[in-house]
Amino acid sequence: MKRVDDFRLKLGKDELVPIMIGGMGVDISTAELALVAARLGGVGHISDAMVQDVSDRRFDTSFVKEKTKFYKYNINNSDKTDIKFNLEQLAEATRMHVGKTMEAKQGTGMIFVNCMEKLTMNGPRETLKVRLESSLDAGIDGITMSAGLHLGSFGMIADHPRFRDAKLGIIVSSVRALQLFLRKNSRLNRLPDYVIVEGPLAGGHLGFGMDWAEYDLQTIITEIVQYLKTENLDIPLIAAGGIFTGSDAVSFMENGAAGVQVATRFTVTNECGLPANVKQEYFKASEGDIEVNNISPTGYPMRMLKNTPAIGDGIRPGCESYGYLLDGNGNCAYITSYNREVAAHPDAKKVSVMDKTCLCTHMRNFNCWTCGQMTYRLKDTTRKLPDGTYELLSAEHVFRDYQFSVDHQIALPV
Ligand SMILES: Cc1cc2nc3c(=O)[nH]c(=O)nc-3n(C[C@H](O)[C@H](O)[C@H](O)COP(=O)(O)O)c2cc1C
Repeated sequence: MKRVDDFRLKLGKDELVPIMIGGMGVDISTAELALVAARLGGVGHISDAMVQDVSDRRFDTSFVKEKTKFYKYNINNSDKTDIKFNLEQLAEATRMHVGKTMEAKQGTGMIFVNCMEKLTMNGPRETLKVRLESSLDAGIDGITMSAGLHLGSFGMIADHPRFRDAKLGIIVSSVRALQLFLRKNSRLNRLPDYVIVEGPLAGGHLGFGMDWAEYDLQTIITEIVQYLKTENLDIPLIAAGGIFTGSDAVSFMENGAAGVQVATRFTVTNECGLPANVKQEYFKASEGDIEVNNISPTGYPMRMLKNTPAIGDGIRPGCESYGYLLDGNGNCAYITSYNREVAAHPDAKKVSVMDKTCLCTHMRNFNCWTCGQMTYRLKDTTRKLPDGTYELLSAEHVFRDYQFSVDHQIALPV
């Protein structure tokens, strides 16, 4: 019976344990978590989502405070077009977050940064270019392009000295998305070093509509394998979404995947950035407590716990401090919904907004409890303590359990 450790993920000349810990936005996949994966020979992700806020928390900088001060005059204005990112500060925060993480890296594995295109930041092209370039400048091993088609992203960094040496990958949820990406980028003569194929059971935003349940990860991988074969392309595929045991991972690797990306099982580790009480909510969840809804202003469906405080909350849009989801014209679907509710309830002290959420504020405060579909099984990965809470795990324990377990077994903490 095979185990994950019988396989190796080859990225160019490099050989890795074929386990990636997925990027989990706004510092849920912390540097500490990514560093464990790298130390154990796999790949860890940090995320550059809301990097200025992350930098403030990690390094005591004051990017958010300064931005809030600068745009204070606009706080009561429903028009947010004025709010722009200072590109120098964005670069500085990214270089700090990435650079300090890379300085701390040990072991033979790698650290990548998850870079979401949907963070349009009221200047989609220029902000994305700065984010990508600054990560490369700061020595990141690789960049995973996510939450978007990224048709222009490789082109943006084609002149960067590390364009051909850093590992560059993309997340897709269909063969069509990959075809589009490859077609658009053919003139660059640079293929992705890996493609993460994310199925419908993943956490965070989904690359599917509300009909996500009709899709199946293995079917998508098989389609992509076929397509790459006909095109004579050799790109390692990384399976992601709902892979809960080492045996699940082996099954994908015996059927076309070169590795796996996993996240949910790491949400209840000490190294994960979620607050302790939220980790307990993840442990406690039953299958019926998990839903896919449309409250994210990005337009992508998102999976989360039903009792997530973000649902229905009518907080004033936090764009003067954050503004990561403002599109190129200074709009965000939450602002539209919020303004509608305020207009409908002029005397209310606080409105409730059901259809959208202020994702920046709520992710920043860990009040949007996004999770994978397998979250309801987390309680089976640990033991219950006498006080009724569940014991947190170490990331090393979970990583090694994926790497060495057979027969769908899950090792409990010792
Ligand atoms: C809490 C949480 C947050 C996530 N945030 C992001 C994100 O910011 N960007 C992204 O590309 N994927 C995100 N994901 C998806 C993961 O990186 C990963 O691909 C997926 O969840 C793997 O499936 P699994 O959780 O069933 O193991 C997130 C997943 C979780 C559980």
